[in-house]
Amino acid sequence: MKHNLITSSLTAFFLLAGATSTASASDKKIEANDLVEMFEKLGGKHPGYRKAHAKGLCASGTFVPAPNKYFTGAALLSNGELPVSMRFSVGGASPSSDEKAPGTRGMGMQIQLPDGALHTFTGNNFPVFAGKNPEIFHGFLSTLLPDENGKSDPAKTMAFIQQNPSLQAHVMWNKNAKTAASFANTEFFGLHTFYFDQANEQQTKFRWNIKPNLGVKTLEKAEADSMPTEFLANTFAQQLKDETVSFTIMASLGEAQDSDIDPSQQWPSERPQVTLGTVTVKTSGGDACNNTNFDPNVMSAGFTPSADPILRMRSPAYAISFGKRLSGQ
Ligand code: HEM
Repeated sequence: MKHNLITSSLTAFFLLAGATSTASASDKKIEANDLVEMFEKLGGKHPGYRKAHAKGLCASGTFVPAPNKYFTGAALLSNGELPVSMRFSVGGASPSSDEKAPGTRGMGMQIQLPDGALHTFTGNNFPVFAGKNPEIFHGFLSTLLPDENGKSDPAKTMAFIQQNPSLQAHVMWNKNAKTAASFANTEFFGLHTFYFDQANEQQTKFRWNIKPNLGVKTLEKAEADSMPTEFLANTFAQQLKDETVSFTIMASLGEAQDSDIDPSQQWPSERPQVTLGTVTVKTSGGDACNNTNFDPNVMSAGFTPSADPILRMRSPAYAISFGKRLSGQ
């Protein structure tokens, strides 16, 4: 049973990553560039593309806020309707990542405030991250690399997961993951903890998630197999023609005992949920988001990131990837 769990999770990782290089385990402190290089080893080098979530779909729309007492004074929630730039994506460093395979789907969103400030929400379709820090995440990915004979070693990966319990909830999610039917039917999770300093000097500790108002829909394996190789962009465009594609941004309010530094741990489901607003998508396609960096630490006034080491690692990693892809690397 456990072996099946690991094996199928490995299969999914390979499907997403398209591994190509040699293994190397590392005990050293991991830097952002180590992770970018690891993504390239797993998914191949694709000049000009994002080094993660290389395949994506630009979209745009509007954000209508739902002001509430936990976010008093937030410019994000006090300026009425605001324009939004989005990008939906498939996990992996390859621009031809398999849309029919279960696994990571992502969403980047930048809300533009009247004073020019940006507020970014960049999340994935899983509720827990693979590891509590960059070292464990990197160590896990390194076990997926094939050796000099082109073979990977599932036993090595299984041992690493057993030694690092903070990987286990994510591996379990991956085992059960089904193929997303559409980006418009996918829920996205921010995973990290953020803070908002209210005008009344109260501090709100929260994690966000974005719920699709068309409901979550996934495909069984046979349905996914029968889809065209690429169906996500067309499905989304058709939904935009036929119905209203919108998402509700929610915040889960944390208590003192809820970790603010570990995105591999979910908070209890009974935490109060408040609505931050609704995003309605109006257009999809084009290349308006190509030169955007959806860095999750770029937020509007009053919001601050926690000390979560995964969250902190994201800004330098995204900047490296951004610089590389804009310069054709
Ligand atoms: C240490 C952990 C992580 C690293 C090193 C990392 C790295 C990256 C990199 C290099 C990119 C491409 C950026 C660009 O070229 O613009 C990217 C994109 C992305 N990442 Fe991460 N990431 C990490 C964690 C996460 C987490 C926790 C989430 C979800 C909560 C996430 C969601 C996304 C999404 C949705 C995109 C695509 C954004 C877009 O469409 O531009 N990543 N990541």
